[in-house]
Amino acid sequence: MPGPGEQIFEEAADALLSRRNAVALTGAGISVESGIPAFRGTQGMWEKYDPMEYATIDAFFRDPEKVWSMLSEMVDLLARASPNPAHVGLADLERMGILRSVITQNVDGLHQAAGSRKVIEFHGNAEELVCLSCWTRYPSRAKILEGIPPRCSCGRILKPDLVLFGEPIPWTAQDEAESEADSCAVLLVIGTSAQVTPACEIPRLSKRRGAFIIEINPEETPLTRMVTDLHIRKVASLAVTRILETIRRVLPPS
Ligand code: OAD
Repeated sequence: MPGPGEQIFEEAADALLSRRNAVALTGAGISVESGIPAFRGTQGMWEKYDPMEYATIDAFFRDPEKVWSMLSEMVDLLARASPNPAHVGLADLERMGILRSVITQNVDGLHQAAGSRKVIEFHGNAEELVCLSCWTRYPSRAKILEGIPPRCSCGRILKPDLVLFGEPIPWTAQDEAESEADSCAVLLVIGTSAQVTPACEIPRLSKRRGAFIIEINPEETPLTRMVTDLHIRKVASLAVTRILETIRRVLPPS
């Protein structure tokens, strides 16, 4: 018999084991326990930096130095972060043949660092910098060490290869994410406020295709009452760890 409060992890584990073919959609909340603040909410980045002034492509064209004052804080946080048990748990689920892929809105690379192999970076990543004038690309880390804002050899200030508001989603990521969302049997939605389109359409697409939607988030989101089948109102590391423990109790050791 599951203990009090354990039932919900059993239900999630059951759905994953009986249906397999799962995909995860992750947002900033999964990396909060790695020390990277989320965007929205009282401790969020957008409390300190107005996204209209610091996170749009127009803002970058207008005043790239100002946008870099926010980006440099972000780059600093990312450099110090490492995967937490939620990232590691998703990589384990992939190795066990239960999770097919991770679609992430995050640019922190922590899923890959945790060992996930199939990661779709919906909003790009912070690994490379690109010149919007001559399109030369540079590895972020080395270039940033030369000084902030980093500059191209042509003199222009470089932009990280992540999606700012007003920029399109990289088409391969959009295409792959849609195909994964379209064909999965379970979608694990972890740590996203589901307020930014088109990423927040992914759970709706999976739901229309008959997938079972498990949402892991201490808060409610616009998905919770309309789209979610099972809401685990816990932080990501605890929820993913508990689900994995339950699955491991049932599955024979490989
Ligand atoms: P948000 O900051 O909007 O939402 C983070 C969500 O994570 C919230 O719903 C929190 O309740 C939840 N959360 C916080 N801590 C958590 C934890 N430990 N475990 C689980 N959940 C937790 O982040 P996103 O939804 O990812 O885009 O934001 C989407 C996009 O908006 C970002 O990719 C970024 C941003 O502006 C661009 O910059 C284009």
